[in-house]
Amino acid sequence: MRTTVGIIGAGPAGLLLGRLLDDAGVDNVVLESRDRAYVEQRQRAGILEHGTAEALRAAGAGERMDREGLPHDGIELRFDRRRHRVDLPALTGGRNVTVYAQTEVCKDLIALRLDGGGPLLFAAEALAVEGAETAAPRVRYRHRGRESALECDYVAGCDGFRGVAREAVPEAVSRVFGRTFPFAWLGILADVPPSHGELVYARHDRGFALLSMRSPTVTRAYLQVPDGTHAAEWSDEEIWDELDRRLETDDPSWTLHRGPVTAKSVTPLRSYVHEPMRHGRLFLAGDAAHIVPPTGAKGLNLAVGDVVTLARALTLRHEKGDASLIDAYSRTCLRRVWQAERFSCALTALLHRAPDATPFDDRVQLAGLDRIAGARSAETDLAEGYTGFPLD
Ligand code: APR
Ligand code: PHB
Repeated sequence: MRTTVGIIGAGPAGLLLGRLLDDAGVDNVVLESRDRAYVEQRQRAGILEHGTAEALRAAGAGERMDREGLPHDGIELRFDRRRHRVDLPALTGGRNVTVYAQTEVCKDLIALRLDGGGPLLFAAEALAVEGAETAAPRVRYRHRGRESALECDYVAGCDGFRGVAREAVPEAVSRVFGRTFPFAWLGILADVPPSHGELVYARHDRGFALLSMRSPTVTRAYLQVPDGTHAAEWSDEEIWDELDRRLETDDPSWTLHRGPVTAKSVTPLRSYVHEPMRHGRLFLAGDAAHIVPPTGAKGLNLAVGDVVTLARALTLRHEKGDASLIDAYSRTCLRRVWQAERFSCALTALLHRAPDATPFDDRVQLAGLDRIAGARSAETDLAEGYTGFPLD
């Protein structure tokens, strides 16, 4: 098989890139190792930055998001038994976020693709990218037990953190930056309406807690737990009790709504950046190039930023023969990626309790939160980071 752009991975990065290239008339093929049901059900994040929602709309993939997604104009910080609301549009010149699950974004993009877009092969596992430094790179892959090659002009590695595309960048040119955190998130989905209309980020001496949602009837919540925790170690009742403790407040109107837990899982926290994001005719995008701790909900949004940048670059090359945006791709994306790493690490440090935290550290965290609650400049900085850095 031959195509202009070979795309490895049908997560949000690969699917949106395929859609943007289809729109621009740049022919492309998407290879995905898993089956459709798996890709459509994998539980991931659910907060779309302002620019991400706009990018999905511009790609013609915003219709159901605009109908079913929940626009959120604020988040709550809870600390020291206090509640503080951050008014996002008031601090950012009108920007907000949208609660719409990544699974739904993927379903919408898959439906568009199968309805007249380019080829999307499920159960097609990329084995290796070859010839990235040449004018004719190829992706070796296995589909239905048969090995084949996809001959391309360009390859986009959108195959997530555990993909194979990154391996095609020689060690001599790769620089890897990373950090692990000594805690993880225990996440639940529960069939109960959210206890509050907006997300609640709670800092507590017992550890961080986050109250989120997937819809008006489904709660999503997280607890900071020690690294290495297994989800089965926590009963549903223990999880609700712990959420109740960490969300404690002097506000008598507050109550936590409990309900049946339908899913439970543990996510490790990690920061990772691979530089550069381009090698020859191979581009890395999304989790294939970088991971952020989930505290700022930046993972999906960064992936969208990468592929919007990449689609523009490949389209300019295709239409005008101009490679300048291709040459700028890695630099353009890494600037935004490092801003997101900085933001996510800072928010993680502000809200989580390290295993070796001292009372001094606790006071510094509380002072940081108090500063956000009391100084518009600090609050604006948080709101700008949360609603997202511009795509350009
Ligand atoms: N061949 C083909 N497909 C592969 C291969 C391979 N060798 N390895 C991985 N894949 C597929 C995975 O099955 C997955 O569907 O690549 C896709 C990568 O998707 P994601 O992991 O979702 O990564 P990305 O599209 O970059 O999305 C960004 O943001 O919210 C965060 O981590 C979260 O998934 C999210 C990410
Ligand atoms: C989620 O709903 O999954 C979620 C929300 C906000 C975050 C992280 C995850 O910061």
